Amino acid sequence: MNRPLQICLVAGARPNFMKVAPIVHALNTRKELGQAGGLSLHVSIVHTGQHYDPNMSDVFFRDLGIPAPDRHLDVGSGSHAEQTAKIMVAFEKVLLEDLPDLVVVVGDVNSTVACALTAKKLGVRVAHVEAGLRSFDMTMPEEINRKLTDAISDLLFVTEESGMRNLRAEGVPEERIHLVGNVMIDTLLRSMGRVGSWEFAPSGPVRVFCGTGRRYAVLTLHRPSNVDRKETLAPVWGAISEIARDVPILFPVHPRTRGKIAAFELDVAGVTMIDPVGYLDMLYSVKGAALVLTDSGGLQEETTALGVPCVTIRESTERPSTVEIGTNYLVGTRPEAILSAAREILAGRAKTGPTALGREVRSPNLGNYYK
Ligand code: UD1
Repeated sequence: MNRPLQICLVAGARPNFMKVAPIVHALNTRKELGQAGGLSLHVSIVHTGQHYDPNMSDVFFRDLGIPAPDRHLDVGSGSHAEQTAKIMVAFEKVLLEDLPDLVVVVGDVNSTVACALTAKKLGVRVAHVEAGLRSFDMTMPEEINRKLTDAISDLLFVTEESGMRNLRAEGVPEERIHLVGNVMIDTLLRSMGRVGSWEFAPSGPVRVFCGTGRRYAVLTLHRPSNVDRKETLAPVWGAISEIARDVPILFPVHPRTRGKIAAFELDVAGVTMIDPVGYLDMLYSVKGAALVLTDSGGLQEETTALGVPCVTIRESTERPSTVEIGTNYLVGTRPEAILSAAREILAGRAKTGPTALGREVRSPNLGNYYK
């Protein structure tokens, strides 16, 4: 019997897990069908360990039903060079032992570029899921990761039209580019039913905060360019504190940001800081929010898919469709701009967009929307 086609899926950091989940499920379904029809697939998952705290990693495997990784590289934190290098050294050993036919990487984190580069140098074909996104800001580590990964990948799976345009403008041959849609939104749609069902019980802090029926906002903030220096974080935090006077804010805090807020002694009145939450808890809190404030990449798309107004505290976005047709406001980091967008939304004048749920949502308060 022929050797099965070996596909190695890489996941490393929190935003990877929701992208890997539907691919694993689809491949495993194909595997079962294929076994009946003669096509033989072997799928393995490699977790690099870039994110390692249970609430940044394990909870996502549980929430999303992702099988336990076949290999765990346990690389942990470090400088960009250290982390990328550690992943490459460890992943090379895995590749030499397992000899996969295809490595699939997702998103734009350090694990993405490290594993793509390692595989390519060993002559293993590479597929990049979420290819072509560009912020055109080369000070962002993710932009460097995106460009390098796309430059060496054999198969480029693209989520939105802008990605197709970017890759064509970079001269990528047409046969390598495939507009396939957004696997992260596949996960969202698959999960919304569970979040809306009576069987779902949000975890303690999320239930306490979101379950009262009052209007609230959700905040996430972790980008080094926003949080690492006091001169940058303090003014942004000033705007957030102002908004917190109008609406209570739930803030699941990334470990990096928690450390910085403490070190800079910022006043957190009006902001409920909790540890990072799992995927279903996050969806639950976001779908009921009047407003999301964020510097995340993925949340811009998730809020657009849900029709929840989102204020993105960044100067650029690699996901322009969320601004052009979605509910996203790209406001930069000036406190006045953050405040004015938030107030506009809270006053009930949020823009609307087509949601992935096939409904236009006009009310800025989505409480009980799925009930
Ligand atoms: C990474 C991604 C970023 C993504 C973010 C989502 C890169 C370049 N960045 O940034 O694109 O938006 O994940 O969360 O890959 N830490 C913990 N526990 C963990 C993981 C990290 O305490 O499980 C702390 C460590 O102090 C670490 C710091 O967070 O040094 C930053 O982690 P790192 O993986 O380097 O980058 P993120 O900021 O999480």
